[in-house]
Amino acid sequence: MLIRKIKDMKQITKRLKKEGKTIGFVPTMGYLHEGHISLIRYSKKDNDITVVSIFVNPIQFGKNEDLDRYPRDLERDVEICGKEGVDYVFYPSADEMYPEGFSTYVEVEGITQRLCGTFRSGHFKGVTTVVAKLFNIVQPDKAYFGEKDYQQLKVIQKMVRDLNIDVEVIGCPLIREKDGLALSSRNKYLTPEERKSALSISRALFRAKQMFESGEKDPSKVIDEVKRIISSQPLVKEIQYVEVVDPEELTPKKKLEKGDVVAVAVFVGNTRLIDNIKL
Ligand code: PAJ
Repeated sequence: MLIRKIKDMKQITKRLKKEGKTIGFVPTMGYLHEGHISLIRYSKKDNDITVVSIFVNPIQFGKNEDLDRYPRDLERDVEICGKEGVDYVFYPSADEMYPEGFSTYVEVEGITQRLCGTFRSGHFKGVTTVVAKLFNIVQPDKAYFGEKDYQQLKVIQKMVRDLNIDVEVIGCPLIREKDGLALSSRNKYLTPEERKSALSISRALFRAKQMFESGEKDPSKVIDEVKRIISSQPLVKEIQYVEVVDPEELTPKKKLEKGDVVAVAVFVGNTRLIDNIKL
């Protein structure tokens, strides 16, 4: 069922709570793909009721980012949700979420300043604010986030801990295409040639993991190799970062350990892609 109003969504959550139903929640910006669908399936497995939100959150986009051209297809998304057995699709408007005079934000310090935070100022503040609002509206027992956006997952987990929000935030595995490309709504922007260049990102990450497994302990060696593989592609315009970080603090590592995360952000043409792999 498609719900557009906060008031209606809240009424439904209240009723479900009263009936003793557990609520699983999958927040998205829509244009659903297998990555999103995997989160829906985890939620369906764990909870009585599954709610998916579709909201292209304007306040998490920078001035020169892709808010206006972000891909949207509500009809198709609703169809996918129906097929997957989603109980409610929450689809609020921007005016509904940010009425005139809105002025309260949630900001997680520290881990938001690293990796993507260095390049997308204000992005995580927009993410935590909208997710906090959605948690208040949907009141989920469990919420599902992909490790594709590894930093986002860690930021949300920190917010929930710091603010004593009663939601269990569950990280779910990153889903890739058969050829390795991490699924993303933004892949739609890629031309066939750009897509070919973008494949170097996952190839480089797989190589990083392989180096670690063969005994490499020096992060700079791994980083250099990842950069070399990615930058050898003609349509790679810019490598924003390649870092090996601690899986919780997201601080750079001096010596590699099992569980460390290799994270990258790359512009292929005008499309910014992120990916990561756990060692
Ligand atoms: P969006 O990019 O639509 O992603 C919604 C959820 O799907 C996120 O938790 C993301 O990590 C997960 N996801 C995306 N691609 C994935 C993949 N290839 N494998 C596994 N999970 C994947 O992330 C957002 O929206 C927004 O920032 C949001 C949290 C909804 C706040 O606006």
